[in-house]
Amino acid sequence: MIKYKKNLSNVKNYVPGKPVEEVKRELKLKGEILKLASNENPLGISPKALKVIKDSANGLNLYPDDDNFYLKRKLSKLLSVGEDNIIIGNGSVELMNNLIFSFTEQKDFLLRTDPSFIMFKISGLINGCYVDEVSNKNFQLNVDDFVKKMKRGKYSIVYLDNPNNPLGSMIFEDRLKYLLKNTPSDTLFLLDEAYNDYLDDDVKFESIKFLNRYKNLFIIRTFSKIYGLAGLRIGYGVGSKELISILMKVRLPFNVNLLAQKAALAALDDHLHVKKSKILNDKGIRFLTSELERMGFFVVKSYTNFITFDSQFLGKIIFEKLLKKNIIVRPLDNYGLKNFLRVTTSTMDGNRSFIKKIKEVYDEIR
Ligand SMILES: Cc1ncc(COP(=O)(O)O)c(C=O)c1O
Repeated sequence: MIKYKKNLSNVKNYVPGKPVEEVKRELKLKGEILKLASNENPLGISPKALKVIKDSANGLNLYPDDDNFYLKRKLSKLLSVGEDNIIIGNGSVELMNNLIFSFTEQKDFLLRTDPSFIMFKISGLINGCYVDEVSNKNFQLNVDDFVKKMKRGKYSIVYLDNPNNPLGSMIFEDRLKYLLKNTPSDTLFLLDEAYNDYLDDDVKFESIKFLNRYKNLFIIRTFSKIYGLAGLRIGYGVGSKELISILMKVRLPFNVNLLAQKAALAALDDHLHVKKSKILNDKGIRFLTSELERMGFFVVKSYTNFITFDSQFLGKIIFEKLLKKNIIVRPLDNYGLKNFLRVTTSTMDGNRSFIKKIKEVYDEIR
């Protein structure tokens, strides 16, 4: 047996939403499959990005721009930060993993809320760290206990996804300020804003303004959600020049492919697609929330593009039954929420179809 890193024996593989093709193959299903399991954009890719991808395919014999020059320049203007405050990643998970790799030693302690996006925990374990947790009470991010833990322990990196996956809840600006104020200056604060683009103006705030004051803050965002580019794998991180320069050392050459770079640039300009996606998502959240509540389920208030609700039965069972009806949702047992399901908003036809099918499932089992 070839020797491998001891800590890898503690690592559980990341379980992604079931791909459509796999479900079709395994269950021999015919017809359209509705995938509501990975918080992807139901309107698809931005039309502007799609055009650029088609136009650029001919250049795929060449390596991409290793510096991501144009995308960094565009983001720097949009976010009012320097180009050297930005790094582009092969999805935001790459940046998360590189951050843990770069700023921890074996046996360091990390802190996250539980539940939260599981990749932070997985990356922490891969990198030989201990991952400490603060339990989210009443499905809200538990800021007070988080601060208490930070004061008692010594953490290399603390992680907050805001809004939170899989809960869909968020903390507002004053609570984030409080958290940042109470984070030791030698602890890195990783703020993951994958769902930020779905926020309404009354709760949305620009966390980048905190970078001036808090040099230990690092923010990651993604093109996988509202911009509809999940399949291309592209996200970005914003932080101090010092943090970025360390991350640049561990970044693999050409980590962001040519089509992803061009598509992301075009998607940033496709304001209509972003607007349509937001309007559709708002409608979907309202519809799914009210329909599921009408069925008697507890639904966590969502600030994202998905709904998490108490399915009153093992989520896995409802998930299996929905699969047989051509619908893929996400059971949350690996997030410790055995009786919960997470459902991504779809087109309105898709949302109605989900509600129809889930009613059928409960009629069958009750
Ligand atoms: C909170 C959170 N962060 C990061 C990601 C991953 O984003 P990316 O596709 O950019 O790697 C996800 C994906 O679902 C997420 O929910």
